[in-house]
Amino acid sequence: MWREDARAMRTAGVNIVSLAIFSWARLQPDEDVWDFAWLDEVVDLMHEYDIAVDLATATASPPPWLTTAHPEILPVDREGHRLWPGGRQHWRPTSPLFRRHALRLTRELAQRYGRHPALVAWHVSNELGCHNVHDYSDDAASAFRTWLRARYGTMEALNQAWATAFWSQHYSDWEQILPPRLAPTYPNPTQQLDFRRFSSDALKDHLRAERDLLVELTPHIPVTTNFMVTGESNGLNYADWAGEVDFVANDHYVTPGPQAYDELSFSANLTANLAGGRPWFLMEHSTSAVNWQPVNLPKRPGQLIRDSLTHVAHGADAVCFFQWRQSAAGAEKYHSAMVPHAGEDSDVFRAVTDLGATLRALASVAGTTRSRARAAIVFDWESWWAAELDSGPADRLRYRQEALDWYTAFLDLGLRVDVVPLDAPLEHYDLLIAPILHVVPGVLADRLRAYVEAGGHLATTYFSGIVDEHNHVWLGGYPGALRDVLGIRVQEFAPLTDDQSVGLDNGATGTLWTDRIDLTGTDTEILARYTTGDLAGRPAVTRRAVGDGSAAYVSTRLGPTGLSTVLAVLAERAGVHSELPDGLRGHVELTVRGRHRFLISRAQRPVDTLAPDLPPGPRVADGKDAEGSPLGTLLLRTSGVTIVRVPADDPGPER
Ligand code: GLA
Repeated sequence: MWREDARAMRTAGVNIVSLAIFSWARLQPDEDVWDFAWLDEVVDLMHEYDIAVDLATATASPPPWLTTAHPEILPVDREGHRLWPGGRQHWRPTSPLFRRHALRLTRELAQRYGRHPALVAWHVSNELGCHNVHDYSDDAASAFRTWLRARYGTMEALNQAWATAFWSQHYSDWEQILPPRLAPTYPNPTQQLDFRRFSSDALKDHLRAERDLLVELTPHIPVTTNFMVTGESNGLNYADWAGEVDFVANDHYVTPGPQAYDELSFSANLTANLAGGRPWFLMEHSTSAVNWQPVNLPKRPGQLIRDSLTHVAHGADAVCFFQWRQSAAGAEKYHSAMVPHAGEDSDVFRAVTDLGATLRALASVAGTTRSRARAAIVFDWESWWAAELDSGPADRLRYRQEALDWYTAFLDLGLRVDVVPLDAPLEHYDLLIAPILHVVPGVLADRLRAYVEAGGHLATTYFSGIVDEHNHVWLGGYPGALRDVLGIRVQEFAPLTDDQSVGLDNGATGTLWTDRIDLTGTDTEILARYTTGDLAGRPAVTRRAVGDGSAAYVSTRLGPTGLSTVLAVLAERAGVHSELPDGLRGHVELTVRGRHRFLISRAQRPVDTLAPDLPPGPRVADGKDAEGSPLGTLLLRTSGVTIVRVPADDPGPER
């Protein structure tokens, strides 16, 4: 079937494939037996058809002979159960033995294919940490101790950081320290946070080990690995990982629901900013349904191309899918593919072929840089981890959902926004939203204060500025680290139960959380008050003017609609305006890459972004200059997506 596949790939416009990702058992059928003949044939075939190869190091899933001989490489869950082979990714990130075997395979592949003309990139492992990020084995315990020694230096510093005076946890020897295995009740919260940090670092270490070997053997071939900036996947701190690869690659799968499109755009946006604005690589998404959600919905007509081009709009220079041909058997036989069970005579394959032609027509976009917006949402993995730990004020709090709700509010108002890691140049933004920025070390507090004092407009929310890097509360009233800059003080959290909600005098409704806010200065104004509940009449949303800048606080969960009411005021005061004509605001997302402007339909069923049934807006004539239009020259108009090019002398939004 392989030659048939190569031909169909050309039909579809495929010019790159990822190969051998889960092929360890076929490449090395036994410890000292190698079989590369089949892979030689595939790689040669791809080259013959002018299709480039992103070759996996194939270490993602160890073969049965290895786990049978060495069950000590298998991961262990927090209850002490060994996770058995039979699925995939059944290995301990910290197993020295696994590492040795993985590097042996990596070396063999690099030596064999490093000079092959089809090879354009190395693909380290696959979705590191997808299933094995938190391993509680003895190898993990030992590596955790080494990691903690490096972080704290002395036993005393660790005891201090972990506050082990509480609940009789004081350690007198490093050997006493364990991963936060299942205990009768909550394990130490700083231990839990450190274990999240350690687990991310442990897999980063694995990535580095394979990468360093590849760089040594084939310095001319760039190295990547596929991140999972998608949904609630939060095992790895990608802000910390992005610098480890030659180019960022991401896998994204749609989360069904009312924010499905916005979540896709949010993930693409964040990936772009992890990549520092440079082009990145969409390594995986799906042509249609997946097979691992409770109910797996097929994509709607037009959705495949709209979803793909949203990634391109945010800087992707490659659009790849898992998987090429849908298999008749195996664990992913019900996962969509480029060639579905129905074969090439199918709507999916036709959509894939259309996409191939469209991407070819967009050649001028490739290599261009995604332009910066004037507003940003800060995204921080440490806050994500810490805010959602057990033993907090409310277990319903969802860090990424709050950030996504702000993102939806921006899109609803037709405002461009960047989703950025904390190490991004924050000072370039006029408006900065820091949702649930829970972990605020002193240096970050200083940085945010300096940002506001320099004229920046900061907004943050409930449960922000609460703890330092050791997960210790900043004392004296919440939100300790940001109390002064916000000009407020909160004595007690007042979270809400599921059946409670509160009204605000701006018409919004709050759920999940409230704070009893005291204003600490005359320069703090009240943007909205509670109208119902115990806090009726008290401030719900505040804003303190600081010179030309300001610091605002939203004390409850408002959801996208309530947030857009607040955001409209904050953006107006920050001088951040929509670049979209009135009629398109909220209906489409505007994204800018170099001279290209992408207008993308946010509808569940993609509609023509400039269709006559939308409220009046500018029109562009196919292939001609749109006279008097702020949009530009039409480059492409397809399902749910319009792309225009602005003249070279139009400075456009800031890069
Ligand atoms: C992940 C993996 C793929 C495949 C897809 C299915 O992204 O990397 O191998 O299992 O999920 O959606």
